[in-house]
Amino acid sequence: MEKREALYAGKAKSVYLTDDPDRLVLHFRDDTSAFDGQRVESLARKGMVNNTFNAFIMGKLQAAGIPTHFDSQLSDTECVVKRLDMIPVECVVRNIAAGGLVKRLGVEEGSELNPPTFELFLKNDALHDPMINESLAETFGWATPEQLARMKTLTFQVNDVLKRLFLDGGMLLVDYKLEFGVFKGEIVLGDEFSPDGCRLWDAKTREKMDKDRFRQGLGGVIEAYEEVGRRIGIDFG
Ligand code: C5P
Repeated sequence: MEKREALYAGKAKSVYLTDDPDRLVLHFRDDTSAFDGQRVESLARKGMVNNTFNAFIMGKLQAAGIPTHFDSQLSDTECVVKRLDMIPVECVVRNIAAGGLVKRLGVEEGSELNPPTFELFLKNDALHDPMINESLAETFGWATPEQLARMKTLTFQVNDVLKRLFLDGGMLLVDYKLEFGVFKGEIVLGDEFSPDGCRLWDAKTREKMDKDRFRQGLGGVIEAYEEVGRRIGIDFG
């Protein structure tokens, strides 16, 4: 497989075509962004850490029977993925109240959410990823009801697998965001799973070990990501 020209550059990853029309290369850059890209910084080792982290998690999800776009790791900072038709809807599950939920509904940060919540957001930077629902997604053609139902099922399956994985490493999976796409008619997990797109707290101290360290200027961002990885058995070399 041969890497070809760039297709798209996101806030933290770049996407390349390959000589296989069904495969893309994802390049995890060191760039870290927050607040809809208003703050961007380069953090050393981040691309390598997130690429390695994502490969490990996608492997765990695949092993649990969840279809993902992940194909193989190509280098320290790159992986090969299936080329999906992306659905412009972000799925968020929350086990513990934090972030946007606390701001929007005034609930106390840290309260347990039972059952966990499921929210949909439109992927649109210019509109700041507004919250949507099934009705809007269907009317505007972002996703069909069948696709949304499958995305919800898969998003909760991911919760079962990852809540346990992180708890075994002494961490709480507070919340996370997933994106899906269609590959040969099937709904498949796309994008990435890394501490950039989820919240993870130390189970005892509730110390933040995810991108909130960057958003809130707490420092030690990549050190925290590496610690999360080590606790679930990742060797960053
Ligand atoms: O900001 P909010 O609390 O709604 O985010 C919920 C979860 O989804 C967090 O883990 C956050 O990192 C993730 N998220 C994301 N990308 C977005 C929005 C949220 O990774 N565009």
